[in-house]
Amino acid sequence: MARSGRDQPSRRCEGCPNFGQTFGLRPQLASSLAHSKETHPVDLQAVGTDVERVIATEEQLSSRIAEMAAQVDKDYAGKDLLLVGVLKGAVMAMADLTRAMQRHIEMDWMAVSSYGSGTKSSGVVRILKDLDRDITGRNILIVEDIVDSGLTLSWLRANLVSRGAGSVEILTILRKPEAAKVEVDVKYVGFDIPKDFVVGYGLDFDEKYRNLDFIGVLAKHMYE
Ligand code: IMP
Ligand code: MG
Repeated sequence: MARSGRDQPSRRCEGCPNFGQTFGLRPQLASSLAHSKETHPVDLQAVGTDVERVIATEEQLSSRIAEMAAQVDKDYAGKDLLLVGVLKGAVMAMADLTRAMQRHIEMDWMAVSSYGSGTKSSGVVRILKDLDRDITGRNILIVEDIVDSGLTLSWLRANLVSRGAGSVEILTILRKPEAAKVEVDVKYVGFDIPKDFVVGYGLDFDEKYRNLDFIGVLAKHMYE
């Protein structure tokens, strides 16, 4: 079930310097703050031990997003492009991705729900907010925070195709290959990560942690 993005290899987070390390945020905090005190808008200390390790730093996210933006620019050169962000998790990704792009795009948003306040996909998808405009014939790129079981995206893609979109592709910041329950063809993948529940950079646990500028693994004691 584990697949790379079709046109680009996804980055395994083993490539990230911090990957695989388990460390409390407090020890990391010292060195992190030592070199980027001025640029860290989130007070990591306030997160305390809720996050047990870092999966992708702000710098890693921004350089990977820049690579993906350049690839999307290239792939859609001369073509119409409508980016559809999935609320709320994709807000950060959409904001950074589109500003790294060098072309005109249009943006629309959907809100779907497949999760309660827990950490497991229910597989039941409801539309909470639909697209504002007709998408007949449009080239759609869905922008997602994470592909976990794949249930939400496989449903969403089918839904947009059924409305007569010209093409529907998917970009996601994170993917958990080991958690896949259905195969979803994802064209652009930021990072493949382990099955752990992660927060930050748009991803929440019970609506919290979305504004962290890095992505980290939520400590199990927070939900078990
Ligand atoms: P699915 O299991 O692929 O259908 O995932 C659906 C949605 O669950 C994603 O778009 C996220 O909003 C949320 N989700 C899945 N895994 C995580 C996680 O590790 N952290 C935070 N949200 C998650
Ligand atoms: Mg989401």
